[in-house]
Amino acid sequence: MHILAINGSPRKQGNTSIIIREMLEGAKSAGAETTEVRLHDIHLKGCMGCLSCRTDHGRCKQKDDLSPYLEAMKTCDGLIVGSPIYMYHISGQIKMFVDRTYSLYPPDEKGGYGTAIPPGKTYALVTSQGHPEPEQYKRPIRWLAGMTGSGFGYTEVGRIVHVDSHANPAKNDPKILEEARRIGRLLVTQRK
Ligand SMILES: Cc1cc2nc3c(=O)[nH]c(=O)nc-3n(C[C@H](O)[C@H](O)[C@H](O)COP(=O)(O)O)c2cc1C
Repeated sequence: MHILAINGSPRKQGNTSIIIREMLEGAKSAGAETTEVRLHDIHLKGCMGCLSCRTDHGRCKQKDDLSPYLEAMKTCDGLIVGSPIYMYHISGQIKMFVDRTYSLYPPDEKGGYGTAIPPGKTYALVTSQGHPEPEQYKRPIRWLAGMTGSGFGYTEVGRIVHVDSHANPAKNDPKILEEARRIGRLLVTQRK
């Protein structure tokens, strides 16, 4: 059982990183092996728009440090995606990741999009924002969960939308940390 986390925050001790870390601890306590990729710390290139993935389905021609993790999205049992809110949206690092996952959306017969991700896998989302209102960024958050989770057929087992981060850092909030560990366990136990 393998849980993969894609972390779009540049801050190693930031809120997104701490919540992801607790989710991974929960997954480990349920017997999983875990991998976290911190997008800020790897050599990450953007989609080059070559469209080779429209004919070479499930494969991205751009080769960089993200390449093995795009492959791991097909073989892992559960996926965590995390991003801070920057300028009313997700972080730039996560947008580069999302663009590259176009390669995992092969065309289907009806002119729409299929998925290169085998069924039965679990998914959890983490976001962190300074604004105190959880609904403030509901559109980019819904978009991120759709593009990296349900759109591929992953089953979401939980999400943490961390708000008011300056007044209430995640590291000081035992309820958030416990909820993160609970979701981490679900990533393992809800795998079909
Ligand atoms: C460049 C930048 C832009 C930000 N823009 C927003 C924003 O539009 N709305 C908001 O609520 N918080 C915004 N913030 C605050 C972060 O979302 C907040 O500090 C969050 O907790 C950071 O997550 P992290 O600790 O995981 O890195 C911004 C922070 C930075 C550095």
